[in-house]
Amino acid sequence: MRGTKALGQAGKQGGGSGWALTSKSRLTSSRFSFSPASLIVGSCFFFLAGFFLSSSLLSLDIGSGVRFSGGLDFRRKLEAEERVYEPLPHGDTGDDSFTAVPSQVLSWKPRALYFPNFATKKQCESIIKMAKSGLKPSTLALRKGETTESTQGIRTSSGMFISASEDKYGVLAFIEEKIARATSLPRSHGEAFNVLRYEVGQRYNSHYDAFSPSEYGPQKSQRVASFLLYLSDVEKGGETMFPFENGLNMDGNYDFRECIGLKVKPQQGDGLLFYSLLPNGTIDPTSLHGSCPVIRGQKWVATKWIRDQIQDD
Ligand SMILES: *[C@@H]1O[C@H](CO)[C@@H](O)[C@H](O)[C@H]1NC(C)=O
Repeated sequence: MRGTKALGQAGKQGGGSGWALTSKSRLTSSRFSFSPASLIVGSCFFFLAGFFLSSSLLSLDIGSGVRFSGGLDFRRKLEAEERVYEPLPHGDTGDDSFTAVPSQVLSWKPRALYFPNFATKKQCESIIKMAKSGLKPSTLALRKGETTESTQGIRTSSGMFISASEDKYGVLAFIEEKIARATSLPRSHGEAFNVLRYEVGQRYNSHYDAFSPSEYGPQKSQRVASFLLYLSDVEKGGETMFPFENGLNMDGNYDFRECIGLKVKPQQGDGLLFYSLLPNGTIDPTSLHGSCPVIRGQKWVATKWIRDQIQDD
């Protein structure tokens, strides 16, 4: 597994390609998965197979959807036909091997992707250990007219910023490299990691990661995307929520503490990427998000904000 190899290599590599697969990778051919004709043939086959099976075995219920999951298995089998691909000659800044970072599109509004098992347990624990000693109450960027007092309770976690260069084991550098590949956004555009801890009852009301100049004044650069790496499981609560997903709840009555909409349950090692800016560079109104209060357990998360300009710090 890529995951288990990762930590050992993270120490050795200084921005190299230790995260990569072998140079000759066996990738799954997608020839079948996107061909409508084969899907129709496949569905018909399973419909008929299901029809005959259900007439001989009355306990099988064709109406329950069981047949259709059978149909998906059928498709998966076709997809499993493997083809060997060779890496192409690459440019000066390119890689000599393939990267495979599995992801699931959770939403297009906002653009949000889930990366299961992005980091190993060991990597997560090493990041928590680094952050533990330096935790301070998290702060907020203040809008015009806001004060620390007036914004109390909006963000109640503790956290600290750590840059990859401060991590002598190279775990953060490794994670940064991997995020750069998952997003196609250069490493140099990332802020330092903000490692956060939420204890029972702690939360982050819904907010935008991008800074609207009309509320925050002129900005030197803007946050394009956010990558959250969940460093711990949370027994209950602590979900990342997108209350405006697909335009829902946007009638102006939404209470920013309310934990509704698309929710992502934190699981150790998993990644969540979402974009705050639309492709045309304006802030995506559906990228509003927050952290539901932790109900049981503790939530640790490492956040990487990625900007539209190179970050100097
Ligand atoms: C940017 O794109 C969004 C969504 O397509 C659109 O609603 C908005 O008007 C665009 N803004 C500009 C300035 O082009």
